[in-house]
This record gives sequence, C-alpha cells and structure tokens, in this order.
Amino acid sequence: MTFRQRHLLGIEPLAPDEITTILDLAESYVALNRQPMKHARALEGLTQINMFFENSTRTQASFEIAGKRLGADVMNMAMQASSIKKGETLIDTALTLNAMHPDLLVVRHPNSGAVNLLAEKVNAAVLNAGDGRHEHPTQALLDALTIRRAKGRLHRLTIAICGDIAHSRVARSNLLLLGKMENRVRLVGPTTLMPAKVADLGVEVYDDMREGLEGADVVMMLRLQKERMDGGFIPSEREYYHRWGLDAEKLSHAKDDAIVMHPGPMNRGVEIDGTIADDINRSVIQEQVEMGVAVRMAAMDLLARNLRAEAEPGGVMV
Ligand code: NCD
Repeated sequence: MTFRQRHLLGIEPLAPDEITTILDLAESYVALNRQPMKHARALEGLTQINMFFENSTRTQASFEIAGKRLGADVMNMAMQASSIKKGETLIDTALTLNAMHPDLLVVRHPNSGAVNLLAEKVNAAVLNAGDGRHEHPTQALLDALTIRRAKGRLHRLTIAICGDIAHSRVARSNLLLLGKMENRVRLVGPTTLMPAKVADLGVEVYDDMREGLEGADVVMMLRLQKERMDGGFIPSEREYYHRWGLDAEKLSHAKDDAIVMHPGPMNRGVEIDGTIADDINRSVIQEQVEMGVAVRMAAMDLLARNLRAEAEPGGVMV
C-alpha cells in the first residue's frame, strides 16, 4: 500500500498509486458497510472533529458515520453557534481545538485555500471537505470509486462534466483525478460558467450539450451554484434547463450504457430531469452516497496509519 500524505487537502498532491490505494481500501469498507455489524477499530482511541463553516448534508453525515464506524470519538462543532460568530478568526478557533489534541480535523470552508492554511497551524491530520471553488478531494474519490465499480476500470473513459464548472470544487477535483488516471475529460456548459483559464486545463470544452455528450461513458452533472453567483451568469433557469439540463433526449447522445452522476444537492428541473435522476438503470447517484462513507473511512484510516507511524520512533509512512 502506498499513501504518503499527512493531510488530505486536495487531489493535486496525490500520485496515481495513492489514489488506487484509497479506492482499494474503500472497497473493503463497502463490504463492511453492507454487513449488519459495521464496526472496525482503525480509528479506535482517536478524536475526530468536524468543522463545517458551510452547509452540508451528505458530506458531514458521511464523515460522521465513517468516523463512528471505525471507532473514533467524533465531535461535530456547530460552527454557526461557535465563537466565530463573535469575531474569532478561523486560525484562533483551530488553535483552540488543537489544544484539545484532536487527531483528525475535517474542515469545510467557503474560502478557497482556508483549509490548507489551517493545516499549517495544527498537529492533527486535516481532511478538506470542500474549500470555496478550490478542491473537494473526497467527493472526487467517491466519484472515482463509483465509476470504477460501474465501468470496471478507471482509465481510458470519456467523461463529460456538465454545467456550472466555474464555481465547482467538485469539477476541479474530478478533473485533476480523472486526468491523473488517464481519462478523456470534457467540460460542457455555457461559456459564462467556464473557469477563466479553461484553455490551459488540457481538456475539451463544449457549450453544446449534445456534442459534448456524444459517445460519453459517464455524464456528471453539477449543481447550479446560485449562492456563488452575483448575477448575469445564465439567461433564466428555464432557458438553462432547455439548453444544458440533462433530459432523455440529450442523454441519448451518450453511449447506451453511460452512467449519470450528480454530487447532490440536486436542483431537479434545472440541471437535471427528475426522472433521469431516479432511473436506477442510468443514475448512480445513490451509489455515490454509499461510496462516500467507504471512501471517507479509507482516507481517515490511511491518515491515521501515518499519524501512528510518525508517533513511533523510526516509523515510516505506509
Ligand atoms: C458539493 C459541494 O458542497 O461542493 N456537494 C457535496 O459535497 N455533495 C456540490 C454542491 O454543493 O453543489
């Protein structure tokens, strides 16, 4: 097994063999999670603190379940109610928590780069649960595991990432991961929702959905991130759905066995037709949620092994 990281801050620093290590270990946790008795002891004795400065349903719940299944003491900080509201900075809050000796800190923050900054100030292993438009590594890893299980491989696939790319940390982390594993990635959406330097990303860019989906193995839809927009990005939701919303007709341009993904939360009738999202023959959206728990168990397990190795004299990273 190869995993040399002290933190999981993004996909960018990971080598392909480290990605494979996480996914392979996650497979064993998928099996465990399907048993009636779901406990393992990989995080026994360790303290995990979840700090979410932005709303989250899936990510926070799955990090909490993942930690509990592996035997950690898990604490969810209610950031809305914390001293942050009284003006304490992110770093002061982190240092206060650090003095309580947590081993794993799971952090979501609206500012890109905030989680990396925090990781420099604490002793715990830090996991990025989404920072601004920057990265959301565990989402890309759970997407990769879902794709690998559905397609039987994670290389030489054509993957169309569609919609609001510019505001999406999910798109960014997926792009990095899928590129490292040698897939063909296409970005599909209105030019107003493409990142500024899209030409430098080494991907194909389409503003026409039908062309962008032609022959794709995987269609990954993204939420329209209205909270990160300050107006003027799309004509209207109706027009957006008409041109870029995934419906049966547009999907018919992808391969017959193409899978449909969405990280959630979904805007039904805006970026995706509800019947496609619920179609168990095409949509793997529920599998993505299932894989999320397993991938987070694997990531925290590997980081904990490295923490233990670091604590032992002469210890080496796995
Ligand atoms: C994503 C996020 O928060 O970045 N959601 C998630 O983690 N499942 C995507 C989104 O908010 O649209």
